[in-house]
Amino acid sequence: MDKKPVPTHVGIIMDGNGRWAKAHGVPRVMGHNAGMQSMKKIVIATSNMGIKYLTVYAFSTENWKRSTEEVSGIFNLIVKYVNSELEELDENNVHINIFGQYDMLPKASIDAIDKMVGRLADNDGLVFNIALNYGGRDEILRSVRKLCEECRDGSRDPADLTEDDISKYLWSGSANFDVPDPDLIIRTSGEERISNFLTWQSAYSELMFTDTLWPDFTPEEYASMIEAYANRDRRFGGREEAETK
Ligand code: IPE
Ligand code: IPE
Ligand code: MG
Repeated sequence: MDKKPVPTHVGIIMDGNGRWAKAHGVPRVMGHNAGMQSMKKIVIATSNMGIKYLTVYAFSTENWKRSTEEVSGIFNLIVKYVNSELEELDENNVHINIFGQYDMLPKASIDAIDKMVGRLADNDGLVFNIALNYGGRDEILRSVRKLCEECRDGSRDPADLTEDDISKYLWSGSANFDVPDPDLIIRTSGEERISNFLTWQSAYSELMFTDTLWPDFTPEEYASMIEAYANRDRRFGGREEAETK
C-alpha cells in the first residue's frame, strides 16, 4: 500500500477556549486550561504521526486587548505547563522554539520558558514552535527593520534584497534553526480567518477549518485532517504534473 504523504509542518490556531468555558459555565481561564490539556495530546500525536514541525498560536500581539485577569491567567498556565510537561517533552525528544518577543511577560513565565527551551535545546525530534506574543505583521516589520539597518550601514544594497532575506529575519528563520513554511494550517472553533498567524509563511499553505472548539479537538479528528491533507492538490502556481508535458 502507498504511504500517504504527511505534511512536514503543521500550524494550528487553537481557538475557542472562551466559548468552551461559556458553554460549561466556568471562567474563561478554565477554558484556557482545558485548551492546554488538548494541546498536550496534540503535541504527542504530531510526533507520533511523523510530522517534523508543529507551530501553535498561543497568544497574539492583539490578545493584550483582553482583561488583565485573562491575560495573566494565560501566562500563569505557561508556568504550569512547564512544570507538568518538561520531563515528558524531553523523553519524547521534543525541541521547543518560541516565536514572539516574550520578554514583556511576567518574570515567572519568562523563567519557566527559558528553563524549558534550555533543557530541550539539544533534542532533535519534533520541532515544536509556540507563537507567544506573536504577530505576523509584527515579525515582517522586524525583519524589514533589520534589512534597512544593513542597507543603511552599507553592507546590503536594496536592489539585491530577496524574499529569502525577509524570511531569514522572521522567527522561523532565526539564527540557530530554520523552519520551513507550514504545509497545512488548521483553525478550530468555526472562525475562518488567519488572525495575523504566520502571515508571510502561509502564502501557499493549505487551510482547514473545523467547528470543534479547541478544548474538544481530539487526536482522532486531527488524524483525519492529516489524512485529508494527502488528497489536496498543491500546485504552487504551476500545473498538475501529468499535464506539464
Ligand atoms: C483561543 O481561545 C486562545 C487565545 C486566544 C489565547 P479564545 O480565548 O480566543 O476563545 P474564544 O474565541 O473566545 O472562544
Ligand atoms: C487567534 O485567536 C489567536 C490565538 C488563537 C492565540 P483570536 O480569538 O485572538 O482571534 P480573533 O480575535 O477571533 O480573530
Ligand atoms: Mg478566539
